[in-house]
Amino acid sequence: MTAIRIVEVGPRDGLQNESARLPLADKVRFIDALSKTGLREIEAGAFVRPDRVPQMADSESVLRRIRRARGVVYSALVPNEQGFERAVDAGADKAAVFTAASETFNRRNINASIRESIDRFRPVVARARRMRLPLRAYVSTAFWCPYEGKVSPAAVARVARTLLELGVQELSIGDTIGKASPSDVRRLLDALLKTTPAKTIFLHFHDTYGMAVANALCAWSEYRITGFDASAGGLGGCPYAPGASGNVATEDLLYALKASGADVPAEPKAVAAAAALILARLGREPSSRLGRLARGAAGR
Ligand code: HMG
Ligand code: MG
Repeated sequence: MTAIRIVEVGPRDGLQNESARLPLADKVRFIDALSKTGLREIEAGAFVRPDRVPQMADSESVLRRIRRARGVVYSALVPNEQGFERAVDAGADKAAVFTAASETFNRRNINASIRESIDRFRPVVARARRMRLPLRAYVSTAFWCPYEGKVSPAAVARVARTLLELGVQELSIGDTIGKASPSDVRRLLDALLKTTPAKTIFLHFHDTYGMAVANALCAWSEYRITGFDASAGGLGGCPYAPGASGNVATEDLLYALKASGADVPAEPKAVAAAAALILARLGREPSSRLGRLARGAAGR
């Protein structure tokens, strides 16, 4: 049985959209709790413009203060060389560049065309290779763009191929606004897998319409995709993707995969408990199924 690989994006994607400034200690506590669950990779922050995403402005301090667990990779989002240098200085084990399959979203998100953004990644790829630092690349709006509507699988496959040829080792294919259904997943994977090996692909589902778990199960059971991004507690959203809700909740995704017979890296309940810590600090009720169950059981 092939093991499921999860990139826990809660501390980055989960928190980047929060308007209230969360204290550094709470972020560190959240990551430290996640580190004890068995999850093997945690995206701990983003080295973007602090004025564009204020919640991530303290990512340097977050990375410096977390208690690193053995065997856990602590990665960070970087838009360009400047972000990469900041991430490396702060001790990130891995970096993730990001672009999109639709021009309008990319322009609004990172102020560049797709081509320009990939050009900005060239020096990052070269630096990462020299340092032997693993590099992933996100392809946002792989199903739907909040500004342009439906995105064609061919456009995604083109960007994915360019990024792999450039030298990134891993792709995260994003349903940024959480609108994809299993039939969209099939259409995309039918096209993408012609040129992109399944082992390089992670799928990144936001859960706006409640389809994320179904999408992941479809990709795993029908296409043998084993890499998924998820966010503890189902927090998240992109400030430049209006209407998008959080990522698929890690605990719900783990539960669904495990119940379907997959080999998962962490216990769903342990992740729900880590999520409860940050939800309490944010004053939020849990939105994940498991979080609600745990809350209900505690209240009985
Ligand atoms: P820009 O304004 O085009 O950059 O921003 P620039 O190169 O023209 O520089 C302008 C100023 O920004 C300069 O400062 C630079 O030093 C500074 P000045 O000289 O004016 O004082 N600057 C930086 N400062 C700190 N760190 C940096 C950096 N780069 C430039 N790395 C940029 C381009 C991409 C930086 C900007 O548009 C930005 O930060 N955007 C934020 C994008 C973002 O974080 N979006 C959310 C994450 S993406 C997401 O959520 C989707 C995902 O989850 C997958 C999915 O769901 O699909 C990944
Ligand atoms: Mg996202």
